[in-house]
Amino acid sequence: MMQKTIFNLDPMISILNAGKVIGLPTDTVYGLAADARSDCAVAEIYALKSRPSFNPLIIHVHDLQKAQLYGHFNEDALRLAHYFWAPAKTASALTIVVPYKNASGISSLAMAGLDTIALRVPNHPLALDVLAKFDGPLAAPSANPSNYLSPTTANHVRAAFPELPILDGGACTLGIESTIIWCQDNNLVLLRPGIVTQQDIEQVLEKTITKAKTDNTSIRSPGALKKHYAPKKPLIMNVKTPLPGDAYIGFGPDYPSAMNLSETGDLKEAAGNLFRYLHTADTQNKQRIAIAPIPDSGIGQAINDRLSRGAK
Ligand code: TXA
Ligand code: MG
Repeated sequence: MMQKTIFNLDPMISILNAGKVIGLPTDTVYGLAADARSDCAVAEIYALKSRPSFNPLIIHVHDLQKAQLYGHFNEDALRLAHYFWAPAKTASALTIVVPYKNASGISSLAMAGLDTIALRVPNHPLALDVLAKFDGPLAAPSANPSNYLSPTTANHVRAAFPELPILDGGACTLGIESTIIWCQDNNLVLLRPGIVTQQDIEQVLEKTITKAKTDNTSIRSPGALKKHYAPKKPLIMNVKTPLPGDAYIGFGPDYPSAMNLSETGDLKEAAGNLFRYLHTADTQNKQRIAIAPIPDSGIGQAINDRLSRGAK
């Protein structure tokens, strides 16, 4: 773990106060963070990422109390926030989509004009320090150009955005984007799978939830586009025997490789290594990226979700 005290955050806070964008480490992936109340700051995020303006951003806050300034939390949402956003939770990477509190000051550009808001409390000491010092909401999508692989190290961010001020918090511990759950009225919909699994959520709420359909037209989940997270090279899933020209990413003892997502077949470890190996494979002198089969249960669903959107 990084020594918190060696960081002087003041320059980063000044940049945020000036309405500019910084690279911010979180527990999941690095984000491109800026003041969520400023249309100009948010517009810079969209421009940097070449992100379509219909795809809303996650708003990062320091704690549940701050989140409640901007969103209406029903009983389910409160229960999830209390459980997954409590400090020192290991599986905390949950984004909760709730009805927006009108006129609470978030840029409508950040929310892509929707009447719901996606809120998340990142579980990373530096991100929390920045949120405490900045004392405002930060819009932060993953720090990758739209549709490219998500960044799990400061170097990934630097390679994509050489001019950007980046707060280097080391490699992200979870390595895959937060789970997204929609909570409105009696509706509970899993919009994006992640380290927090459907079963984890069902256990906390003691009820079943539905999974969003993955198509390009769903209004509920504007960012769940079919094509996403794509490396530059062709990506092939479920490869048991790689071809000679392949950069092969293995999994478990049955599908070994120099790049093995998890030698013991641990899905959480595999999720943590996924984007790092994809970045590495994408820069190797190989024709395509081939990935071993990943079991489609629990965290494996999050891995296969990202892979199937990146596969050609
Ligand atoms: O782990 C994460 O969530 C990372 C880190 C940086 O926090 N952020 C991240 O942001 O993955 P991004 O922009 O790459 O993905 C945000 C997703 C998009 O699919 C977007 O459509 C969805 O959240 N989203 C945002 N607001 C929404 C809303 N009101 N309703 C439904 N989906 C929403
Ligand atoms: Mg993203």
